[in-house]
Amino acid sequence: MNLTIFNCKIIFSDKQRSLNIKFTHNSPHYSTLLEALEWNNIPTNYQCKSGYCGVCRIFLIHGQIKYKQEPLGYISPKEILSCCCIPVNNLIIKLKA
Ligand code: FES
Repeated sequence: MNLTIFNCKIIFSDKQRSLNIKFTHNSPHYSTLLEALEWNNIPTNYQCKSGYCGVCRIFLIHGQIKYKQEPLGYISPKEILSCCCIPVNNLIIKLKA
C-alpha cells in the first residue's frame, strides 16, 4: 500500500487559532479537509459531502488545495469546497459565519 502522509498547518483567519493536521491519502481519517475540521471539533456546515450542494464552502485566503473529485457546486474564485478537497500545503482559511 502506497500512503502519502504529510503535515499541514491550518490557520483560521477569524478565530486566531490554528491546527496541525496529519493528512493521509487513501486513509479513512482526514481524507478531506472537512473531515479534518470535524475530527478537530471545528464547527462547519455541510450537507451532501459530495461536491454538489456548496454548503461546505469556505474562503481560501492562502495556500493550495487539491480536489479529490471535481466539484459541481457553485463557488467563487476564492472559495473552496471542504468536503472534497485536501490541502497541498499550509492553509489560511476563513470559515463561513
Ligand atoms: S457538503 Fe455539499 S458540496 Fe460540500
